[in-house]
Amino acid sequence: MRGGEMRGGHVRGGHVRRGDIGGRGSSWSILLILVLVVVVTGSGWCWQRSARNAREKDSIAEALNLQAGMVVADVGGGNGEWTLDLATRVGTQGHVFSTEVDQRQLQRIRDAVEDAGLDNVTVIEGAESESGLDEGCCDAILLRHVYHHFTDPDGMTRSLLRALRPGGLIAIIEFPLRSMGGEHGMNAEDLIDDVTEAGFELVREVEGWPGRDYFMLFRRPDAPDPR
Ligand SMILES: C[S@@+](CC[C@H](N)C(=O)[O-])C[C@H]1O[C@@H](n2cnc3c(N)ncnc32)[C@H](O)[C@@H]1O
Repeated sequence: MRGGEMRGGHVRGGHVRRGDIGGRGSSWSILLILVLVVVVTGSGWCWQRSARNAREKDSIAEALNLQAGMVVADVGGGNGEWTLDLATRVGTQGHVFSTEVDQRQLQRIRDAVEDAGLDNVTVIEGAESESGLDEGCCDAILLRHVYHHFTDPDGMTRSLLRALRPGGLIAIIEFPLRSMGGEHGMNAEDLIDDVTEAGFELVREVEGWPGRDYFMLFRRPDAPDPR
């Protein structure tokens, strides 16, 4: 009998079933823990990123001395996140031109502006060598993670110089050249050479930028005194 029980499929099967149930239970527990880890880590990461971006936006506004009523451009506006912030800071008396070359991003910016109910933003389709901004239109320009994407940096930089009023500031945020499945980014010395060659003056590097990013502030020189 005992031997039969030991050999019997029922008893052995019973063990196997209990094992099965235990195995499935622990698989679900592991899965649940993994989901929790992903959710907690993901939301922590999002929170950190939005806190970091908020600090960046304040520092950009401070460096560009943004005031209500100013006219500014966000060149290569991406999904519109930085455009919206600029638009809120310059207020209804001010204006933001947000430029893009990518059709999908242009639509994302338009949607973001509409969702935010802003009427002080103009979305502009730029070109590879031309910003699409009118001459002397802007008090300040922001280029965040955009410069190294330019396929004609000389043409674009000259176009941006024309778009700024004399004395106007341009904030360029970049990261050093790195190889990640192809080269990406731009070293600070090369950026300074390019931008000053086009006619801008380097004002200063804004210190303490997060991560590997760096922030260079340039200005369009004042118009020569006509006397
Ligand atoms: C990495 S994204 C940065 C987006 C945004 N500035 C940000 O910081 O989140 C670079 C963007 O620059 C845009 N871009 C590249 N060349 C451009 C040009 N000549 N004029 C305007 N936008 C350009 C690309 O389409 C892309 O959306």
